Amino acid sequence: MSQDAVVLMKQEVGRAAAQRVQSNCIVGLGTGSTTAYAIEYIGERLAKGEISNVVGIPTSYQAEVLARKYGIPLTTLDVVDHIDIAIDGADEVDPHKNLIKGGGAAHTREKIVDSLADLFIVVVDSSKIVEKLGSTFPLPVEVIPMAVTPVMRQLERLGGKPELRMGVKKAGPVVTDQGNLVIDVKFDSIDNPAELEKTINNIPGVVENGLFVGLADVILVGEIVDGKPRVREIS
Ligand code: 5RP
Repeated sequence: MSQDAVVLMKQEVGRAAAQRVQSNCIVGLGTGSTTAYAIEYIGERLAKGEISNVVGIPTSYQAEVLARKYGIPLTTLDVVDHIDIAIDGADEVDPHKNLIKGGGAAHTREKIVDSLADLFIVVVDSSKIVEKLGSTFPLPVEVIPMAVTPVMRQLERLGGKPELRMGVKKAGPVVTDQGNLVIDVKFDSIDNPAELEKTINNIPGVVENGLFVGLADVILVGEIVDGKPRVREIS
């Protein structure tokens, strides 16, 4: 699949998700290159007057910066008592709509916001659809810096191959928006995502892992069919 095709799929699916946002709505704004298009198109719809009175809750500095750029007013979880709709990307989606997230190291805030939404819409291109979680993407685990070594040992005991995520265009490890580090763990196969999610979060020093089990309501999948981008819905 060419890079151009991937961009087309992401744009199409971002636009489709932005169309689901209605006036007078509190929207969880996810992180990543696909959600970035949704944020752009929500801003566009607000600017055109197609929708009004929309406020966003960002899941990362990236989402915050994009929301400001595209004119979406922001609020916080201290101010609102609910979230109507959250739009967020994923690194893998299985047939039960379970996800691996955290490719952008934002899964902790994403899980908080996405889990609070009445409707959680996931936006992905077709390369993210897998039969079993863990088949293509390592599982991100956010860890308090002082606990990195003992947490890595525990993750090895669980059968994983852990690696500290390193920065790109930045020397040293990736530091999350909360000031923590991320361990990417390759598992040969994740047979029971719900159990693994709880087991990993129970290791002292772990803040949150990227398994999102039973949270997604709708998956919008960007595909290229007969050379044209289109969106398939899994609900
Ligand atoms: C960030 C995430 C992203 O949503 C996920 O990595 C997908 O990103 P992209 O749309 O760029 O492929 O979980 O933590």
